[in-house]
Amino acid sequence: MTATPLRELTAPAAGWRNPLRDPRDRRLPHIAGPSGLVVFGVTGDLSRKKLMPAVYDLAHRGLLPPGFSLVGFARRDWADQDFAQVVHDAVEEHSRTPFREEVWQQLSEGMRFIPGDFDDDTAFTRLRDTVEDLDRARGTSGNYAFYLSVPPRFFPKVVQQLKKHGLADAPAGSWRRAVIEKPFGRDLASARELNAIVHEVFVPDQVFRIDHYLGKETVQNILALRFANQMFEPIWNRSYVDHVQITMAEDIGIGGRAGYYDGIGAARDVIQNHLLQLLALTAMEEPIAFDAESLLTEKLKVLKSVELPEDLGRHTVRGQYGPAWQGGAEVRGYLEEDGIDAGSTTDTYAAIKLGIDNRRWAGVPFYLRTGKRLGRRVTEIAVVFQRAPHSPFDTTATEELGQNAIVVRVQPDEGMTVRFGSKVPGTSMEIRDVTMDFAYGESFTESSPEAYERLILDVLLGDANLFPRHQEVEESWKILDPIEGYWAAHGRPATYASGSWGPKEADEMLARDGRSWRRP
Ligand code: BG6
Repeated sequence: MTATPLRELTAPAAGWRNPLRDPRDRRLPHIAGPSGLVVFGVTGDLSRKKLMPAVYDLAHRGLLPPGFSLVGFARRDWADQDFAQVVHDAVEEHSRTPFREEVWQQLSEGMRFIPGDFDDDTAFTRLRDTVEDLDRARGTSGNYAFYLSVPPRFFPKVVQQLKKHGLADAPAGSWRRAVIEKPFGRDLASARELNAIVHEVFVPDQVFRIDHYLGKETVQNILALRFANQMFEPIWNRSYVDHVQITMAEDIGIGGRAGYYDGIGAARDVIQNHLLQLLALTAMEEPIAFDAESLLTEKLKVLKSVELPEDLGRHTVRGQYGPAWQGGAEVRGYLEEDGIDAGSTTDTYAAIKLGIDNRRWAGVPFYLRTGKRLGRRVTEIAVVFQRAPHSPFDTTATEELGQNAIVVRVQPDEGMTVRFGSKVPGTSMEIRDVTMDFAYGESFTESSPEAYERLILDVLLGDANLFPRHQEVEESWKILDPIEGYWAAHGRPATYASGSWGPKEADEMLARDGRSWRRP
C-alpha cells in the first residue's frame, strides 16, 4: 500500500467541490456562493411577476449570499432607487414568502440599475464598472449570471456587447453564465441560428436555457415516483399501458401578449418545450445518475425515438378560441383580442398524437394537448392502463368500470391519483372506479418553491440538471416542424368556445382511436 502524501489529504484535489455547495448532493442545503444576477429586460412582465419575486423568496429563505447583487438593465431613465422601488412593488405583489424589512434591506443594498439601449456602448461600460464595484463593495467575486429576459431578436446584440465589454469572460477563479428564456427559436433552423449566436460568446456549460416546467416540484417528482419506487416501473410499459395523455389547459386567454403570441401559437409556445419535456420524463429510461449529463442522455433518446403519425390531418388538431358568454358577460374571441390580425390563423389550442419507437413504448400512443381559454387551468400526465385481460365477473358487474390510471397532477392540487375499480358495497357484485390520492398539501408541511426560485438558485449554483440542452431543443423542433408545416398548408384552425374543452375535432381525433380525453 502506498502512503498518501499529507498535502493531498489536506489540499482539495482538482475538481473538488465543497459538499455544502455540491449541487449533486440533495440532502444538504444549497446556498449560493458569492454572486450577482444581471437581468436584461428587467421592466418586462416576466421579471416583475416571476424573477424579482423569486430572488426575494430566495433571500427570504437564506439561500442567497449576504452580498448578493441584482443589476437591472433596461431602456428606462431610472436611478438605482427607482429600480429598487419597482422591485419592491413586484415583491410585495407577487412573492411567495411574507415581506420582511430586514431581508429587503439587505437585498436592496445590492441593487443597481443601468439605463441604456442594447447597442449603447457606454451603458455596457457602465455595467462592467458596476460589476467591478460590486465585486469590491459586496464581495460578489466576479461571479455573474446574465439573464436574457428579452425577445430573441435582441440576443445577438446583448451577447456581442457582453463579449465586447469583457463581461462574458470570467476572471480567473470565477464564473460567468448566460440564462436564456424561451422561445428558443420558432423552428429548427432559427433555433440553430440562435444557438450559434449564443455559442459564439458562451461555451455550452455557461448556457442555462429556462424551461420553467422543469423547475416545478411535481415535474421533478416524476423521476422520484418512477425511479425511487419499485411498484410503478414494472407496469410502466407497452405490456400494461394503453396510452398516455398529457394535458396543459389554461383558462386565461393571451392577455396583453399579442405581440409575442400571434404567429407563434400554442404548439410552439408550450408543446415544443413544456409538453415534450413532460413526455421525455414520463417515457425515458432510468438515468445512470441524477446529473445533467445522464438526464440529457435519456431524454434525448426518447425525443429521438418520437414518431409522427403518417396522417397528420387525422391525428393532429389545432384550434382557436371564439367568443363566448361566460358568467353573463361576453368573452372576446382570439380574433377580437387587441393586437390580433382579423385573419390570424394562430393556434390557441393544439392536440397531437405521437408514438415512441422503442421496445418500452412501441404501439402506445402519447396524446398531447394544450389550449388557452379552456374549461379550467390544469396540467396533468395520465398514464392509462389496458383493461384486465380477463374478467371472471358478469359484464353488468363491470359496466361502470373505466380503465386504471395513474395521474400525476402537475398543477393545481399538486399530487397524484391512482384510479382503479372497487366493489360497490351491497349484495350484488358491482364494480366502480374509485381513486386513491396523494396531495402535497396533506403529505408535506414544506411548501413548494416557485419554479423560478429553484431555477435561479440552480443557475447560481451551476447545477444544470433542470435545464434543457440545445440537442433537446433541436430534437423537439424536429418533432414539431412537420406538424406546423402541415397546419400552415391546410387552412384555418377549428374554432372552439371559450370555457369549453377545445374543438370537437379533438374529441373526434381520439374517438377514431376508440378513446376519449379525460375531463380533469
Ligand atoms: C409559458 C407560456 O411558458 O407558460 C405561457 O409562454 C403560459 O403562454 C405559461 O401561459 C404557463 O405557465 P404555468 O406555470 O402558469 O403553467
